[in-house]
Amino acid sequence: MNMSKESLNIPVHVSMIMDGNGRWAKERGKERVYGHFEGVESVRACVEAAVETGVKYLSIYAFSEENWNRPQEEVDALMALMVKAMAAEMPALDRNGVRFMVIGNRERLAPELNEVIDTCMKQTEHNDTLTLIVLLSYSGKWDILQAAKKMAMEIVGNPDNADELLNMDVDGFDRFLATAGIPDPDLIVRTSGECRLSNYLLWQGAYSELLFVDTLWPDFRKDEFRAAVEYYTKRDRRYGKVK
Ligand code: IPE
Ligand code: IPE
Ligand code: MG
Repeated sequence: MNMSKESLNIPVHVSMIMDGNGRWAKERGKERVYGHFEGVESVRACVEAAVETGVKYLSIYAFSEENWNRPQEEVDALMALMVKAMAAEMPALDRNGVRFMVIGNRERLAPELNEVIDTCMKQTEHNDTLTLIVLLSYSGKWDILQAAKKMAMEIVGNPDNADELLNMDVDGFDRFLATAGIPDPDLIVRTSGECRLSNYLLWQGAYSELLFVDTLWPDFRKDEFRAAVEYYTKRDRRYGKVK
């Protein structure tokens, strides 16, 4: 029997809305930040499971533009955790052939965090086993707006480009998005029982399969990741056609 990845229908790009850290901590009578710490373990587990299952892109929603509105203390703790986790995880990610990327409104990030991100992205840029994309200070509407601005600036810079604009199709617009070059997610999984996108990959997720699970993010480990991939393999994606 041919057991190639194609015949198994393994998703190329799996995306995670990592939700429920606060509730996980509260259930244990601990501070919310304790749930964020534990959530890093889940990221590690999912990266390993993604490599093992043959997924090529794993994206994770780590911090939304809206999350800047949380209490300063929690924002500071999350940002400090990002710096620490990236620095700590990088050697293992690099060893395992993981290319690391961060996408989002990086102008809002502290210089120290931007520095770590640049170092990690540079160090792993030639790896190709798995691309791990952290969506940080990201929102779908922000992304579409910044893409529209970039496109407009190209035309302002050279009015001859106006023809190109009139002929542009949706694939042509892709190159202005923060996710340019990354295939659209095949599967978006949200943990913690919430059934909403919370301003995630609005454009890129137009045809993604959506899976909402009750598991809280710190409890989402290898078995849960494998189950999500298994769920995807059974979906029939019709893209509006009749099959
Ligand atoms: C997800 O967990 C992590 C981030 C959004 C940064 P939450 O912090 O949203 O946890 P809950 O949803 O309050 O339980
Ligand atoms: C979405 O979770 C953002 C991330 C997972 C980073 P939130 O917990 O911020 O979303 P809402 O507020 O429940 O919509
Ligand atoms: Mg939440």
